[in-house]
Amino acid sequence: MEIQDAQKFINSKSYKTPCYIFKKKTLINLLDYIDVSIKTKYHNIHLAYSFKTNSDYKVLKVLLKKNISIEVVSKKEYKIAKQMGFKNIIYNGPAKSKKTFFDALKNNYIVNIENKRELSWLKSIKSKKKIKVGIRVNFSLSNFITDTKIINSRFGFNLYEDLKKVLKDIEQYKNIKVVGLHYHVSQLERMPEKFKVVIQELLIFAKRNKLKLDYIDIGGGFDCFNNSQFTFDDYMKAIDNYKKFNKNIKIIIEPGYGLINSCYDYLTTIVDIKKTKKTNFFLCDGSKLHLNIKSKVNSFDVDFIKEIPSKKQKENYIVGMSCMESDRLYLSNNKLLLKVNDKILFKNCGAYTSSWVSNFILKEPYIYTLNSDF
Ligand SMILES: Cc1ncc(COP(=O)(O)O)c(C=O)c1O
Repeated sequence: MEIQDAQKFINSKSYKTPCYIFKKKTLINLLDYIDVSIKTKYHNIHLAYSFKTNSDYKVLKVLLKKNISIEVVSKKEYKIAKQMGFKNIIYNGPAKSKKTFFDALKNNYIVNIENKRELSWLKSIKSKKKIKVGIRVNFSLSNFITDTKIINSRFGFNLYEDLKKVLKDIEQYKNIKVVGLHYHVSQLERMPEKFKVVIQELLIFAKRNKLKLDYIDIGGGFDCFNNSQFTFDDYMKAIDNYKKFNKNIKIIIEPGYGLINSCYDYLTTIVDIKKTKKTNFFLCDGSKLHLNIKSKVNSFDVDFIKEIPSKKQKENYIVGMSCMESDRLYLSNNKLLLKVNDKILFKNCGAYTSSWVSNFILKEPYIYTLNSDF
């Protein structure tokens, strides 16, 4: 749709601002695309969605209807996912409760052990029935991929230094079987190559240590479908490389950002224009508090602004409603043809936005669901 048409379309909806617009059709199309892609081109790759990234009810409903697995990382998330009826739950993270940990194992969900606390819960189970678990591991990618930061991860057990000890300990418990390894890099690196390295290292470890794995869960960290530099296929090709080592293993992916970010836009209205000698400030009724508080100006694609080149070297900022000087969303040296009451659309902001929104200064934005494409 042309910008003008999209603008007319949005204006015709009379949405109250500031608001998120959940583009339901975009999510459905992405899920269908991923499904067909995995089934027709790749092998044994299984999609799960990271709950924390955006847990708006309508988003979860789409995922539930499509029978997508859900990755949860706390007692709260676990309970909601279970109550909503998700059949395949993956339970990660340090915020599990003992009760939900046991419940997840009882229900044969995938549980990836994070620390000694959870190990002790596991070892306390007296039942003779085989309990299958996964273990979260970490290692720094810096030895494998140039320009990646060295990180001593706080999550899981170090693959080279700690995991053998953990496995030896578990070996004494005949009712426990380690069937999975889980890795999620919490650095910003989103290059497909990292998955190749992760899977390779985990499979090499498994072979050396005679671990019979059902799955490797490589977490999230995708950047696709967002005008991104990578495509979903780039990631799949990097992952698919695992077939050289072991054809039977299941690879679980847990995208959050890469799946949901492009399914949301954020709409605001200009409420004031302040012209000063050097700078013009266009105050909107939204804020960085609703997007990403740490983001820099121009982090988001914007729509609905007409700009014309200007000889005056003036800075034009679209600024937000909070009291933070840094609440600046957009900067241009062009003349912005904006009037009070005009709408501005910030594109692709579904990840870690509505799920992070607090009550600090402003109330939460409205959320509207758009069933059609625009
Ligand atoms: C274990 C795990 N899986 C998946 C994700 C989703 O990551 P992303 O949004 O980068 O895809 C996260 C995010 O922190 C995570 O911790």
